[in-house]
Amino acid sequence: MKKVGEKVTILDFARYKEKGEKIVMITAYDALFARIFDDAGVESILVGDSLGQVVLGLPSTLGVTMEDMERHTGAAARGTGRAFLIADMPFLSFQTGPDDAIRNAGRLLQAGAEAVKLEGGRNMENVIRAIARCDIPVMGHVGLTPQSVHRMGGYRVQGRQEAQRQQLRDDARAVQEAGAFSVVLEGIPADLAGEITEELAIPTIGIGAGPRCDGQVLVMQDLLGLFDEFRPKFVKRFGELKQPVRDAVRKYADEVRRGKFPGKEHSF
Ligand code: KIV
Repeated sequence: MKKVGEKVTILDFARYKEKGEKIVMITAYDALFARIFDDAGVESILVGDSLGQVVLGLPSTLGVTMEDMERHTGAAARGTGRAFLIADMPFLSFQTGPDDAIRNAGRLLQAGAEAVKLEGGRNMENVIRAIARCDIPVMGHVGLTPQSVHRMGGYRVQGRQEAQRQQLRDDARAVQEAGAFSVVLEGIPADLAGEITEELAIPTIGIGAGPRCDGQVLVMQDLLGLFDEFRPKFVKRFGELKQPVRDAVRKYADEVRRGKFPGKEHSF
């Protein structure tokens, strides 16, 4: 475990795996929350393209743009000190080929990220290799990949059948061979995630992938109980903040309407 205050770098990801220390990751999209999570001592902060649903009010991640990701990565970077900051590559920022992928990954590093994450396995091997060759650290993401929602026919657990299990093992291995320093395993059976984690030399970060991954990631609004439009089975709420926030705003509205706020002590 790193002492609080000591900067987490990409080198620590390999060390955590070697020592069997869990890697804690959480999403953040602005400086305020990034600072709180950084103070709480998480190893890594992800500016996820879940931004689309939990911040921008979009129906999926498909509408998130490079400009959105740059703006929010910059904000999160300004709030992050110790944690390793990773930014998601949005839909169509890397699928169009290695040249676009390198340029867009570079833009996210210029915005303040220390690494980028992109969805895909064997189909994105060339893109991951191209980015990694430019000394831009890349995290892979296989299994339930939200940018492929229409191909998957919805947000479904992947790898339930043996043929698909083999494909996911191949995807994870391909991501590692291409030069990724770590890989997110999302929405796959726990035993498969455990096997992949044992097989790979790079650390796996799970979300809906059981307890045997090298680390875990959750979307901040899910774990804080701020987003309740749907609640996937893998989400555990470590707080219930929606109600207290609503209560506080109702109190404020009530005091304004009754002329109780602002009082003398809030006036000049
Ligand atoms: O966009 C995101 O927040 C993610 C995590 C859930 C892994 O990709």
